[in-house]
Amino acid sequence: MTPARKRLGVNIDHVATLRQARRGRVPEPAAAASIAEHHGADGITVHLREDRRHIQDRDLAVLKSVVTTRINLEMAATDEITRIACDLKPYSCTLVPEKREEITTEGGLDVLGHPEAVARAAARLKGAGIVVSMFIDPELLQVRASRQAGADAIEIHTGTFCEAFAAGNHEAELAKIRAAAAFAASIGLKVFAGHGLDVRNIVPILDIPEIEEFNIGHSIIARAVFLGLPAAVKEIADLIHGA
Ligand code: PXP
Repeated sequence: MTPARKRLGVNIDHVATLRQARRGRVPEPAAAASIAEHHGADGITVHLREDRRHIQDRDLAVLKSVVTTRINLEMAATDEITRIACDLKPYSCTLVPEKREEITTEGGLDVLGHPEAVARAAARLKGAGIVVSMFIDPELLQVRASRQAGADAIEIHTGTFCEAFAAGNHEAELAKIRAAAAFAASIGLKVFAGHGLDVRNIVPILDIPEIEEFNIGHSIIARAVFLGLPAAVKEIADLIHGA
């Protein structure tokens, strides 16, 4: 049996970051979503943060009517955001940790430390027919806790690996991701990966057979500033689809 094609989810939060710099109308995230889909994205990812620093509530409604692939909503496991997610019904939700003062999502969700709150949010989302993923560090105990809390999938936080890659010393971090991915698949979880990935550092991660989806934002939008969004999406989509 040929393995299924790996998927690219394009995170368009930073299109909204640019718009919010002027609190204006442009650039429109939904337009970015359509362009990304036309140039290889298999899904569109957005993070509705509690402080609404980039994606706004109206963006979700517009995206729901425009996106033709899949919407993956990243979210904190709070009552407010869980209610919004259950009303929106995206294809999937990824539970992430969230601190107001952080620049980006800094580490994985501590499912082991907060099993009840995570399981409660997961149950509500699953009750609304939404696939539930949990964004965790590549630690076996967190993988098992995610399964026990009701996850359908985990997204492995690749941030530490990406920093190690930049420092030229990534073998140990790659081994952790490999082990977490194999263990997750062995207990019935789907395996995704994301955070800090770009056209260079994704190459060794593409060799891990269990990882079927990558969620990538910052490097694509950063490349798009110089190359344009179509080329920026296409170059990494081609890498992922060719793996
Ligand atoms: N996956 C998750 C769960 C995230 O929180 C983020 C950052 O919003 C990403 C992927 C994308 O990370 P980056 O923007 O560094 O590609």
